Amino acid sequence: MKTELLTIHDMTAARPALERAARVLREGGLVVFPTETVYGIGANALDPAAIAGIFRAKGRPQDNPLIVHITRMEELEPLVAEIPEDARRLAERFWPGPLTMVLPKTPAVPDGVSAGLPTVAVRMPSHPVARALISLAGVPVAAPSANMSGSPSPTTAAHCVADLDGRVDVILDGGPCPVGLESTVLTLAGETPRLLRPGAVTPEQLREVLSTPLTIDDAVLHKIDDSARAASPGMKYKHYAPGAEVTLVHGGPGAYRALLADKAGTGVFALTFDGDREKLPVPVVTYGSEDDAAAQAERLFAALRELDEAGARRVYARAPDMNGVGLAVYNRLIRAAGFREIYLEK
Ligand code: TXA
Ligand code: MG
Repeated sequence: MKTELLTIHDMTAARPALERAARVLREGGLVVFPTETVYGIGANALDPAAIAGIFRAKGRPQDNPLIVHITRMEELEPLVAEIPEDARRLAERFWPGPLTMVLPKTPAVPDGVSAGLPTVAVRMPSHPVARALISLAGVPVAAPSANMSGSPSPTTAAHCVADLDGRVDVILDGGPCPVGLESTVLTLAGETPRLLRPGAVTPEQLREVLSTPLTIDDAVLHKIDDSARAASPGMKYKHYAPGAEVTLVHGGPGAYRALLADKAGTGVFALTFDGDREKLPVPVVTYGSEDDAAAQAERLFAALRELDEAGARRVYARAPDMNGVGLAVYNRLIRAAGFREIYLEK
């Protein structure tokens, strides 16, 4: 198929492009659009044929469910069997924004969206293009990240074109995504709230609002068996993986530099923090400054793609601090590394 690329420079002049994309969604087509987290590949969440198209376009495993995107609280009611008090409070505090809540679903949600689970994941994005598109379409929009399954999530329209040109009807270019990592996923469908995927809304922030203790799913920090039934199926797939073999390195800058000392000319690349560039003997890609987790989040996926474009075969990546948003950065990097890590002296 021929993919139409529509660029939005300015929301005041965006109406024709948004109308066009909204019509494609209503007619069962696929529209790639920016959100504050990453770009999504959207389809009408209530149209099973359109949903099947998402799985085809991405090469996504059938057992990995999709997030449904809405713009108003009233749109949540027909999708979920109940809205617990904690969900209301979280929505008040964090919606619109990068938080996804998993709740028991109603029959209105097609099985293709929930991949056969009795639950549905819902989020209300804050990006103005996403909000305008969903509200003009007049339907809830199911949207996974707009990458080919397995590769890093796209944070620019160019990333989406690289992965999905010819596989979707429309790509809406709304510039780079400000958060850069996918939303925080929290399930409220179990006995107690559980974090399935860390994101820009941190565990500390969730705990401030929740009335019962939050648990962190094992899959957030550890490798889980691919045959195990994951609470969040997306966490069991090898993810965010660049072509290169990535190893995550814990330790100070001196030990890191010593590790790379004899690696010049071997195809090894460094993935490290801003400011390290001059001191290292191998080609360097950076992902934000050492003490700024939000900047690391914004840069990480683009940095992983740059490593591939540069032809990196092996990458030693400096591990981020795991506090706050850093937990999400670490969660993505450790997957990009296939859980390969080494610990050096300080
Ligand atoms: O920021 C985001 O969430 C982006 C933008 C486009 O909104 N979307 C996104 O979608 O990251 P995706 O499909 O790449 O990731 C959705 C994650 C997967 O890990 C999936 O397994 C999980 O959410 N998920 C979806 N529905 C679920 C459910 N009913 N129960 C548990 N996990 C669910
Ligand atoms: Mg994804």
